[in-house]
Amino acid sequence: MTFNGIYQYNFPTTIRFGAGSSKELGDYLVRNQLSKPLVTTDATVSQLRFFKEIISDLGKKNISVEVFSDIHKNPVKSDVYRGTEAYDNAGRDSIIGIGGGAALDVARAIALRINHRDDLFKYDDLAGGDVYVTNDVPHFITIPTTAGTGSEVGRSAIIADDETHQKKILFSPKLLARIVFADPLLTMDLPPFITAATGMDALTHNMEAYLAKMPHPLCEGIALEGISLIGDSLVTAVNSPDLESRSKMLIASLMGAVAFQKGLGVVHSLAHPLSSLLDTHHGLANAVNIPYGMEFNIDGFEHKFRRMARTLELKDETGQAVVQYLFDLNSKINIPHKLRDIGVRPEHVETLADLAIGDFAHPNNPKPVSRDNFRNLYSKAL
Ligand SMILES: NC(=O)c1ccc[n+]([C@@H]2O[C@H](COP(=O)([O-])OP(=O)(O)OC[C@H]3O[C@@H](n4cnc5c(N)ncnc54)[C@H](O)[C@@H]3O)[C@@H](O)[C@H]2O)c1
Ligand SMILES: [Fe+2]
Repeated sequence: MTFNGIYQYNFPTTIRFGAGSSKELGDYLVRNQLSKPLVTTDATVSQLRFFKEIISDLGKKNISVEVFSDIHKNPVKSDVYRGTEAYDNAGRDSIIGIGGGAALDVARAIALRINHRDDLFKYDDLAGGDVYVTNDVPHFITIPTTAGTGSEVGRSAIIADDETHQKKILFSPKLLARIVFADPLLTMDLPPFITAATGMDALTHNMEAYLAKMPHPLCEGIALEGISLIGDSLVTAVNSPDLESRSKMLIASLMGAVAFQKGLGVVHSLAHPLSSLLDTHHGLANAVNIPYGMEFNIDGFEHKFRRMARTLELKDETGQAVVQYLFDLNSKINIPHKLRDIGVRPEHVETLADLAIGDFAHPNNPKPVSRDNFRNLYSKAL
């Protein structure tokens, strides 16, 4: 790591972590004189027992709850507009996101939209839109129910265009949650496939953040510990979940998102086009691509792969051993090794490569990635 400038490091979010922490929500709202939250979630989570319990607990504290759950699997702009209408029409005073990354991203984008009513994509970070995020945002709280994206501690929301499906990033430090209630009990009944896919997303965040080129020893330390926690717990969380494995996965996913303020890399740029083009789940797309993306990164970064191999307690400390570990891990949690097994066809490769080269994640990869590199990586993984 070489320092050659002045860097900004941010670690500001208050996190209440632990089994039962979500039960503190009602008292927190009362203490902060909030009585009319818009609870944003997705249709599946809105039917789960823990969700109904949270809503009923709030009712007992005379908190009036409006639930908005009509969102897409990969959220789009019109979801955010309808959620904003729900906030306005029911006279709300705060926003609580409860769910996976999709629900939390919509909640965060609604929080942005409340006092910023120009076209949502005017605030697109890649087009410099963060400078227009100048007004206050409502009191915003997050409660994750998957252990993957770490969106609960993030400052950005990924929202796609309804027609083109192109994903835009809305970003501002103002979009940080005021408090996160991270309660592993809410993740206990996650189905194995979702646990596996979201868990591999979390592992990808930690590995890519560790490798990303910005010098950031704070994030690197967090990322290595995140990798270690996932190495300890993901297989158990998928195949025979207990509170310990769920707790380790939840904190590690949150750590991945804290760490990736340092940047992501080639794997996320391989993954994003699969969601845009084929509606593939974000975590699954990362899971299948991560061994190939990591292999691409070994050359020149052997020292960093050695640290990751040690963290994972591999006997062989080479980059290839880390790659083999990732293939083996995917096998243990029933994730395929090949893109063709998740619906990718040879005729998709050129379009995928076009989308990947335009993606926002790879400029932080430790080494440059060309369009040819993307095409070769997709072809290899096919
Ligand atoms: N903001 C960020 O920094 C960031 C980073 C990465 C990804 N993302 C976004 O996050 C989204 C993916 O999030 P995700 O991986 O959490 O998936 P998700 O939010 O799509 O959830 C996956 C599935 O799990 C279900 N589910 C959620 N919690 C559950 C529970 N406790 N029990 C049973 N089922 C449950 C959901 O209903 C959904 O069907 C994508 O839209 C992606 O673009 C955001
Ligand atoms: Fe991700």
